[in-house]
Amino acid sequence: MGQDACMESFGGKGGTFQCKILLLLLAGTCLGLKVTVPSHIVHGIKDQPLYLPVHYGFHMPASDIQIIWLFERPSTMPKYLLGSVNQSVVPDLEYRQKFTMMPPNASLLINPLEFTDEGNYIVKVNIQGNGTLSASQKIQVTVDEPITKPVVQIRPSSGAVEYVDNMTMTCQVKAGTRLLYHWLKNGKPLRRSPAYSFSPQNNTFQIAPVTKEDAGNYTCLVKNPVSEMESDIIAPTIYYGPYGLQVNSDKGLKVGEVFTVDLGEAILFDCSADSYPPNTYSWIGMTDNTTYFIKHGPRLEVAPEKVAQMTADYACCAYNNVTGRQDETHFTVIITSMGLESSAQKEKSLSPLASLTGISLFLIISMCLLFLWKKFQPYKGQKQIIGKLRHFQATRMHWMTLGYTNSLPSQMPLVCPGCQAGLSECLRVYQGKTCTTQFMKLFSTSLPNSKIT
Ligand SMILES: *[C@@H]1O[C@H](CO)[C@@H](O)[C@H](O)[C@H]1NC(C)=O
Ligand SMILES: *[C@@H]1O[C@H](CO)[C@@H](O)[C@H](O)[C@H]1NC(C)=O
Ligand SMILES: *[C@@H]1O[C@H](CO)[C@@H](O)[C@H](O)[C@H]1NC(C)=O
Ligand SMILES: *[C@@H]1O[C@H](CO)[C@@H](O)[C@H](O)[C@H]1NC(C)=O
Ligand SMILES: *[C@@H]1O[C@H](CO)[C@@H](O)[C@H](O)[C@H]1NC(C)=O
Ligand SMILES: *[C@@H]1O[C@H](CO)[C@@H](O)[C@H](O)[C@H]1NC(C)=O
Ligand SMILES: *[C@@H]1O[C@H](CO)[C@@H](O)[C@H](O)[C@H]1NC(C)=O
Ligand SMILES: *[C@@H]1O[C@H](CO)[C@@H](O)[C@H](O)[C@H]1NC(C)=O
Repeated sequence: MGQDACMESFGGKGGTFQCKILLLLLAGTCLGLKVTVPSHIVHGIKDQPLYLPVHYGFHMPASDIQIIWLFERPSTMPKYLLGSVNQSVVPDLEYRQKFTMMPPNASLLINPLEFTDEGNYIVKVNIQGNGTLSASQKIQVTVDEPITKPVVQIRPSSGAVEYVDNMTMTCQVKAGTRLLYHWLKNGKPLRRSPAYSFSPQNNTFQIAPVTKEDAGNYTCLVKNPVSEMESDIIAPTIYYGPYGLQVNSDKGLKVGEVFTVDLGEAILFDCSADSYPPNTYSWIGMTDNTTYFIKHGPRLEVAPEKVAQMTADYACCAYNNVTGRQDETHFTVIITSMGLESSAQKEKSLSPLASLTGISLFLIISMCLLFLWKKFQPYKGQKQIIGKLRHFQATRMHWMTLGYTNSLPSQMPLVCPGCQAGLSECLRVYQGKTCTTQFMKLFSTSLPNSKIT
């Protein structure tokens, strides 16, 4: 149908109005004449020149070459911009400064480009020879302002406490049109999460509530058709912890919360928990009747010679002074004096090889003994020292009712340094159920021979 209309026009009869419309809509190919554009949509930058390239070719002798540019916006009449026959250009005087064309080159230069220049540009080429050939193309032009570098603001700027605070990030750009906001965490688009919420424009995003996992490097990426800019990295401060409190030692044998140490060696305990800001660590010792503060800091050295009993109870307390949370872990040190002296004496009179074998044998037997001891101790021990046990329990109960409450005010500030400011608050916490349960647990685990289960 298009071909027929074209033929009619080619036939030199002038062509009907319908044919012209069809020609406008045709892809630009009409027998001998071909008009092409590299792109049907061109994104221009405000205040800069915009060049709309057009190519055409034909295979017939031509007397006149006519090029016409029209501009149309949705729901308005097309406007004539400029036209040419052969080399002479006839501009619309209203737009003379703005649009230029150098025929026979059909490309159009718009300078400067303004927001009002957004719309469709139609180029029509007519070739007059033996009859007339016509073809046209349409180019959609958008006009945008480039984006300036986005700046991310974070609230609260001083940092957010895990499970307490919400965190809001706002992305701001000074200039730019048709902005599309995207948020990245560690360089990747954010994963969906029930804790996240976005503003309709996407320029603000909230995490409610903040958790430790929300720590990371955030950036805001803003795009429009002519530019794309990413903000500097924002790494929010998140206060969390303590988590995973545990005590480890360089030597000795650890089974659950019990360390078995040889009498001869000093042992270094290391208390660690994940937290931000770093925890304050305190060490507490527990003897039959009292608890006593030992020191602050993550490490504790215990010299078994100085320990009066064969077992000693300790606790490490980790306190995060920003989240206000704390955790404590209790452990027992059992001091063994297995064969230290005897093996030392034997060594003197034995050859190196023999002593090596001896030591190996000794170690193997010790391990077996230890294993057996661990396995049977709970039952055997309880029968043997049932009397002692009763006494022990009684003393502890007494201590709990009297000594515990009496010693608290003096012990607590030492145990947890944050308490110096608000002792009564801390006391309240410590006298609460959690603490009592913990102490109860401690006492039960501290009873000799019921430790290893
Ligand atoms: C265009 O150029 C052709 C020859 O190159 C000439 O015959 C024709 O008259 C010119 N048309 C106009 C309008 O100047
Ligand atoms: C039209 O002119 C532009 C520069 O003004 C040039 O880059 C382009 O190649 C020209 N096109 C043709 C078909 O000559
Ligand atoms: C013009 O076209 C007619 C038929 O359409 C043809 O007879 C004639 O030879 C053509 N003239 C030239 C100069 O090509
Ligand atoms: C955090 O957000 C939740 C839900 O949006 C709201 O219920 C809560 O009050 C907010 N908390 C703070 C501290 O603003
Ligand atoms: C909003 O941002 C998220 C995360 O970057 C993205 O997945 C989503 O497509 C954005 N939505 C809109 C409407 O831009
Ligand atoms: C965050 O960025 C810092 C440097 O800016 C880098 O050292 C760190 O590894 C990054 N963290 C992640 C999780 O990518
Ligand atoms: C909290 O503890 C850190 C060390 O872990 C310390 O530097 C800081 O001063 C303490 N802040 C307060 C308010 O006690
Ligand atoms: C425990 O302490 C109390 C005083 O606080 C004392 O009267 C009692 O004799 C002590 N018991 C042991 C076994 O040391």
